[in-house]
Amino acid sequence: MAFDFTGKTVMVFGGTSGINLGIARAFAKAGAKLAVASRSQDKVDAAVAQLSGQTPALGYSLDVRDFDAVKAAVADFREKRGTIDVLVSGAAGNFPVPAAALSSNGFKTVTDIDTLGTFHVLRAAHEHLTKPGASIINITAPQAWIPMALQVHVCAAKAGVDMITKTLAIEWGGEGVRVNSVSPGPIDGTEGMDRLAPTPEAKVAAARAVPLNRLGTVDDVADVCLFLASDYARYVSGVVLPADGGWSVGRGFAGLG
Ligand code: COA
Ligand code: NAP
Repeated sequence: MAFDFTGKTVMVFGGTSGINLGIARAFAKAGAKLAVASRSQDKVDAAVAQLSGQTPALGYSLDVRDFDAVKAAVADFREKRGTIDVLVSGAAGNFPVPAAALSSNGFKTVTDIDTLGTFHVLRAAHEHLTKPGASIINITAPQAWIPMALQVHVCAAKAGVDMITKTLAIEWGGEGVRVNSVSPGPIDGTEGMDRLAPTPEAKVAAARAVPLNRLGTVDDVADVCLFLASDYARYVSGVVLPADGGWSVGRGFAGLG
């Protein structure tokens, strides 16, 4: 893809594995100055080592539920790299569980990471964003608008993420800051997919539910993020953009043919 982010600054929260690391890698390949953040110091170190093959990368070991830690990371990044051009909020937790067996703390844990964590990331970064021009991308999921059994906590959490996207697109639009969500479909080789479709049979069934007839790749999602952060998307704000092969549309009546 011919997107050029040379000299641009990008922070990816939750950017040390899976889809979010793929997003960080794509921005690194496009020339951006990067930082990734997540809880595990080992994962942060490994991600920084991988990204530094392309670009000098910074890493922060933190929990997005800890607002002060997120604030400290964005302030440090601002001091070392300048204002933030692209902010990706993708830290999330997921496990399938019947609602009747989910504890209060289990529900709270997922909404705290996904929804409150996203608010923390955006709220802390706001004063450090490039204005005008910054692009914020929240990583959501189809569960935000399509109810899914065993996912009451994730459905509620990601619906909250998308309302943060839409609300802040309104509030921050006047400052020249765009806020969008990207919604991956079933992405092969990821933790999220392994948790929701743990067997080969479940993965085949998941692919069959996608109109494009295959599971997605990390790059399928990363390329959409490059587009959304680029000047080609300069008039796009407040949207939830699925990168899901049509999964969230469903097969409709074509499924009967
Ligand atoms: N089923 C039911 N409840 C579960 C659960 C499961 N599989 N896994 C965790 N919980 C509950 C715990 O029992 C606990 O509730 P309790 O105190 O009432 O017993 C609560 O969730 C918090 O668990 P804990 O392990 O302390 O949370 P954590 O903050 O250490 O980790 C998780 C967060 C649970 C989301 C963990 O799975 C994680 O770190 N996930 C990140 C990776 C991921 O989910 N990737 C996919 C993204 S789509
Ligand atoms: P993943 O590899 O587990 O990525 C989650 C990332 O978030 C990891 O880097 C993890 O690192 C970090 N993280 C988790 N909890 C955190 C916390 N409290 N504070 C800071 N960082 C935290 O999962 P993935 O499957 O690639 O999912 C990535 C994103 O895509 C998520 O937002 C998910 O909801 C979304 N999504 C995925 C799929 C899919 O098919 N996989 C589909 C739809 C949407 P640490 O463990 O080091 O914290």
